[in-house]
Amino acid sequence: MAKRTAGWGSLPWLLFLVLVLVSRSKTLTAGFLQVEMAGKTQMVFLNKNATVFCKIPDSPHLNIRHMGVTWFWKSRGSETEVKVFEFFGNHKMAFRPGAGVSPWRLERGDASLQLPAVQLGEAGEYRCELVVTPQKAQGRVQLEVVAHPVSSVFQERDPVRGSEDRRILCKSSGFYPDKINITWTKWPQKDSQDQEVSEGIVTGPTIKNEDGTYNVTSYLRLKPSLEDNMTVYQCVVWHPSLLTRQSFNFTLTLMGSEKKAGLQSIIQSCLESILIILIRFFSFLAVSIGYGSSQATGVTPAAAVTMPDP
Ligand SMILES: *[C@@H]1O[C@H](CO)[C@@H](O)[C@H](O)[C@H]1NC(C)=O
Ligand SMILES: *[C@@H]1O[C@H](CO)[C@@H](O)[C@H](O)[C@H]1NC(C)=O
Ligand SMILES: *[C@@H]1O[C@H](CO)[C@@H](O)[C@H](O)[C@H]1NC(C)=O
Ligand SMILES: *[C@@H]1O[C@H](CO)[C@@H](O)[C@H](O)[C@H]1NC(C)=O
Ligand SMILES: *[C@@H]1O[C@H](CO)[C@@H](O)[C@H](O)[C@H]1NC(C)=O
Repeated sequence: MAKRTAGWGSLPWLLFLVLVLVSRSKTLTAGFLQVEMAGKTQMVFLNKNATVFCKIPDSPHLNIRHMGVTWFWKSRGSETEVKVFEFFGNHKMAFRPGAGVSPWRLERGDASLQLPAVQLGEAGEYRCELVVTPQKAQGRVQLEVVAHPVSSVFQERDPVRGSEDRRILCKSSGFYPDKINITWTKWPQKDSQDQEVSEGIVTGPTIKNEDGTYNVTSYLRLKPSLEDNMTVYQCVVWHPSLLTRQSFNFTLTLMGSEKKAGLQSIIQSCLESILIILIRFFSFLAVSIGYGSSQATGVTPAAAVTMPDP
């Protein structure tokens, strides 16, 4: 009798135990606690402070005493994972100088990794392992470190005068990876349609810099005639690190003949000298008169004298 009562009495307890076990195992399955990365790949810029994302979506406020986060890195083509950063309890360790996870962000479910001044060699797979006791979640992302090109367009120094060959240069430097596309277009007149330039283009070899970035120069060889005066040549640069294409304008200006230009400059400098002499003479006159009148009106002579002095 007593035995039976005990049996019936323990049934609710059994049910409770089963429920607890079920719910507990549920929370332990991967997928209950989830982290979000910035997609499959994330692009960051060389030498900038990178943030590798790893967040619990819609996270409530968490107690970081019950949390742990470990970040791992695997370089491209490597099989071995390296620990970058770990945090749990009172323990915090950065295996890469400056690597870190902000505690106040962690409280909001954001375990994103900070990598100050990220380098090209730090690209690869990053794995974020997050524990919110008793749950655990992880996420992976491919980190791509890129550098955008700095470009400029200019004419080769000391161009041959007249209508002989000229070279316009479009130089892009400091970019990574080496995949780049430089094209040329031109506007023969203002408000006219742009035309793709396909002839006379030579894009030089891609040169590697010490820091691993690349440089390249595209040359556009021209045989300009008079009607090419004031034509706008545009160099268009595309690189994976850029959101849009970048364009750089160069306006071709043809000078008149050298003889005319020489004569013009001589006349100009003669006129300029004469003008300067005249200005000096008149200002001298003005000072003398001013000095006389200031004495008469009682203004301090020192102020009047020092005024025209530069
Ligand atoms: C990058 O991080 C470093 C150290 O963590 C800091 O001193 C610097 O101001 C940061 N730079 C930028 C642009 O946020
Ligand atoms: C470079 O740009 C030209 C013109 O837009 C395009 O036809 C070509 O496919 C591009 N090449 C690469 C490698 O992106
Ligand atoms: C690449 O271009 C930069 C900027 O113009 C220059 O300082 C650097 O010397 C160039 N690198 C090489 C290898 O020529
Ligand atoms: C380049 O020149 C074209 C044609 O004159 C003009 O439409 C465009 O706005 C110019 N772009 C820049 C960046 O100056
Ligand atoms: C080219 O155009 C500029 C501006 O209109 C003008 O000053 C210059 O004389 C022109 N050159 C020639 C060779 O006609």
